Amino acid sequence: MNSRPHTQRTHARLCSVLPGGVNSPVRSCQSVKQMPMIVERGNGDLIVDIDDHSYIDFCGSWGALIHGHAHPTILKAVYERMQKGTSFGISTKLEAEFAEEIIKLVPSMQTLRVVCSGTEATMTAIRLARGYTGRHLIIKFAGNYHGHADFLLVEAGSGVLENELQASSGGIPSDIIKHTICLPYNDIAACRHFFDKHGDDIAAVIVEPVAGNMGVVPGDKIFLNALRQLTTQVGALLIFDEVITGFRVALGGAQALYGIKPDLTCLGKIVGGGFPIAAFGGGRHIMQHLAPLGSVYQAGTLAGNPLGVEAGLQCLRLLQRVGFYENLEKKVTKFLQPLEEYIAKEQGNLCIQRVGSMFTIFFGIKAVRNLQDTLKVDREHFAKFFRFLFERGVYIPPSPYEAWFISDAHTEANLQKTQALIMQFLANEFHTC
Ligand SMILES: Cc1ncc(COP(=O)(O)O)c(C=O)c1O
Repeated sequence: MNSRPHTQRTHARLCSVLPGGVNSPVRSCQSVKQMPMIVERGNGDLIVDIDDHSYIDFCGSWGALIHGHAHPTILKAVYERMQKGTSFGISTKLEAEFAEEIIKLVPSMQTLRVVCSGTEATMTAIRLARGYTGRHLIIKFAGNYHGHADFLLVEAGSGVLENELQASSGGIPSDIIKHTICLPYNDIAACRHFFDKHGDDIAAVIVEPVAGNMGVVPGDKIFLNALRQLTTQVGALLIFDEVITGFRVALGGAQALYGIKPDLTCLGKIVGGGFPIAAFGGGRHIMQHLAPLGSVYQAGTLAGNPLGVEAGLQCLRLLQRVGFYENLEKKVTKFLQPLEEYIAKEQGNLCIQRVGSMFTIFFGIKAVRNLQDTLKVDREHFAKFFRFLFERGVYIPPSPYEAWFISDAHTEANLQKTQALIMQFLANEFHTC
């Protein structure tokens, strides 16, 4: 193991001033039993820690960095924008350009509002759905994560799974989650059953169309279509949480991939080009219920901040270069296909699930369709795998319940190097089983 004296010292320092040494729990690397990385800088597909060790990055700021770290076009535009001031709390022309660009790419969003995090986007989309329908019940799916608003922390994925708080988080009175119904993902029968009984009380269904927070678990097309049909029948809203999938699985997000038009969409991560920017939007007739036009309140001091909006706008423009998604698709296929073939040949008890450039390698199970399957994952094996790669200069999300992301900046050489390391790990495992 590389020695990491600066990391060790800084980690101790961080732990004395931040709970667990982090500002977001999964970064603590608890589940992989590893002192976390303290990052110094990033460029392209590489990140460098404060001990000057370099890692090929498959986390990409949890999916935000589809163009890799420190993309020069984004940096230049933000730098120039910064010279004109960093925040006003007053509208800018740039916000119109940004919103127009999003609406062009995701046409189900006729109007939108820009906020600072995915959590704010989902939280406000739900408030809006309740205000619009005058109903109270929200349906979410086990293993889907929609940020950390109280009423959505019910059987959420990822960081919450790590802490084994499967039902909810501490600090949330049961009264607050009593209007949140959690159903199994990809289970149409359970949905129909609930809609038959309580259809008139349902304000909205919120879903990750491709789940990314229990590892990558694609929504079945018939399941997502059934949600569209059921919500329309009872007058509830369908909210696609595309905080991860937006601009990731296709230029138009999962809704373009599946050909389903949600009533409201939540975006985050990629839309901010690496800055704290998110958005939610949908049909004009729904969005006009937001203040100042309507009674549903939402606000934010830094909402639509010009630096973030500039980064987001540049990021979206870069995505529209000819062949962007086709090239990314080819790159990911070249990386994963040999691994998939190898696993199939060796009949290993693991699987790779992928949509576009997001994927997860699940240890200890051959297919994952929902949270119940995800919970069968072999966490010890994953922890070993994480450490194996980490010690050899590859950084993957430090949790078995997360998605890996490949960016436009990943080089052929670094993908090949990673592929060879994974092969080496698997070969050892298969031959010692
Ligand atoms: C699908 C999904 N929705 C919402 C969120 C919350 O976004 P944020 O962390 O920006 O609050 C996340 C975060 O990972 C997410 O993956």
